[in-house]
Amino acid sequence: MAACRFRKSIAIQLSHILEMPPESLIKSICAVPVSKKGQSPDFQLFVSSVLDHSSSNHSKADIQLHAQKLATQLKCDTVISEISAGKGTVDFTINRELLTKTVLQQVFEDGPKYGLKSELFLGLPKGKVLVEFSSPNIAKKFHVGHLRSTIIGSSQEVLGCHIYKSRRNFIGNLKEAIGHHVTRINYLGDWGMQFGLLGTGFQRFGSEEKLKSNPLQHLFEVYTQINKASEEDENVRNLAQDFFRKMEAHEEEAMSLWKHFRDISIKEYTQMYKRLGVWFDEYSGESFYQEKSQEVLRLLDTKGLLEITKEGKGVVCLSEKGEQALVMRSDGTSLYLTRDLAAAIDRMDKYNPDTMIYVTDKSQTPHFEQVFQILKLLGYEWTERCQHVPFGRVQGMKTRKGEVVFLEDVLDEARSMVLEKTASTKTSKEVDNPLETAERIGLAALIVQDFRGLLSSDYHFSWDRVLQSQGDTGVFLQYTHARLHSLEEQYGAVDEVAHINMACLQDRPAISLIQHLLRYDEILHQSSQDLQPRHIVNYLLKLSHLAAAAHKRLLVKGSPPELAEARLCLFQAVRSVLASGMKLLGIMPVNKM
Ligand code: ARG
Repeated sequence: MAACRFRKSIAIQLSHILEMPPESLIKSICAVPVSKKGQSPDFQLFVSSVLDHSSSNHSKADIQLHAQKLATQLKCDTVISEISAGKGTVDFTINRELLTKTVLQQVFEDGPKYGLKSELFLGLPKGKVLVEFSSPNIAKKFHVGHLRSTIIGSSQEVLGCHIYKSRRNFIGNLKEAIGHHVTRINYLGDWGMQFGLLGTGFQRFGSEEKLKSNPLQHLFEVYTQINKASEEDENVRNLAQDFFRKMEAHEEEAMSLWKHFRDISIKEYTQMYKRLGVWFDEYSGESFYQEKSQEVLRLLDTKGLLEITKEGKGVVCLSEKGEQALVMRSDGTSLYLTRDLAAAIDRMDKYNPDTMIYVTDKSQTPHFEQVFQILKLLGYEWTERCQHVPFGRVQGMKTRKGEVVFLEDVLDEARSMVLEKTASTKTSKEVDNPLETAERIGLAALIVQDFRGLLSSDYHFSWDRVLQSQGDTGVFLQYTHARLHSLEEQYGAVDEVAHINMACLQDRPAISLIQHLLRYDEILHQSSQDLQPRHIVNYLLKLSHLAAAAHKRLLVKGSPPELAEARLCLFQAVRSVLASGMKLLGIMPVNKM
């Protein structure tokens, strides 16, 4: 990785003065974000992070003094061309042509793996990761929360090289890209009283024909109808309970109807996931753990953790303050919590992952806290390996027809709005597959909007905002990609960097792009640490803004061949990093729009 080479050079010099091993200094040396104010240095050492913290707390003035002293002790050489003290930092500028050449060469050499081969990822534990995401409830709405879980968990074909051989998810992607083995699980809401209602409802209002032609819609209608009826009529409630009891007793008729609903729903989901580029290693679900939940209850009992209340319910005491978790109904049946305990134990047995991740909305945070607390009480040390990644709510997502019920509604709306908007553009007639292109642009818009902020934040959704072609949107990323791609199409792709004259790339917009490319490994590292895609999204948006500015100033057309080729080479490197970053997020770049 280009940045590593320079960090190492700086670290070696520093190590002589500070008498510390260079490896321990590397993480304190960061590439500097490109700012609007004038030329910035390339790297910064944060002096506070290398001071001896055991001796005392250093004051600001103290740190500044150290920074100045270090800056005078360090010497420029063939790599470092300028050293100065900043605010609590020592700032380094790298020999300009060497910097440009090294960065471009690395991008061309590593292609889609640029940034991922960085030393920042060396030495980090790598192992098996299990990600559970999407997990919709059959017969209920595939609501926006499920969409969030699906795209956070999921994304498209990534990076076109063998380790990214198939459809991936963002968290899975990133983990996989840095060398983990990832398993993706969809844990369907496919058990519980809602199926008692659905079974009863289908017997009353169901139609085989409608179920065949539009299964999710029909199941949802039946469920809504019977739910309403059950609120008004005790008889319906009893029938539903009876149906669910039959399911729990595995009676054939009830089970076969349930299985029919489940199979037909999975078939539909698979179609939708395909549109999103999502795929799972395993479709599991709450139903799988009905019997295993009984084993969990027995285990809790043997360990003396299960208490039976006066009403006959089973609870686990979680704290001395008396906080309790309900794990068994008075009729002995299990709950969502019990099934999650059984599922976690089963997954650990089956896959033995080093990390087990659950992606759900944040309203489930207390639920997962309880799951993890009880697993710990049961003595499972691996509970430490479990992690809940919560995300916030999306408000106001509607389509022109009204409320969003199914994921398909959102995807269709995004696609048709993009089609309408792009129909009038100059290049629209040249697009080979307008529908597929509109789908990719629409999806990019949804994903970027969703990933721009902290995952745990709520946000308000607006079609107008997400579909803007300038501004910080997925459409803008796609537009930039297509524009850069058209340069390659028009003037031919550059295939190697060795003969490029780096002196041609010393204008401000070019240097800014190079400096920004230099930071990519740090950004990937940051996202891999906190599992937040926003670092990558914001990085790519800035890359696109810098590319737009450079595109205006660094003309290819009409420039002397040497200059034109150097510029093309730079734009090609930018497009390559933009494309791999987009794919990591789950966005398939378009070449024309
Ligand atoms: N089906 C649940 C829902 O839609 C989400 C499941 C989350 N995963 C889990 N292991 N509990 O709310």
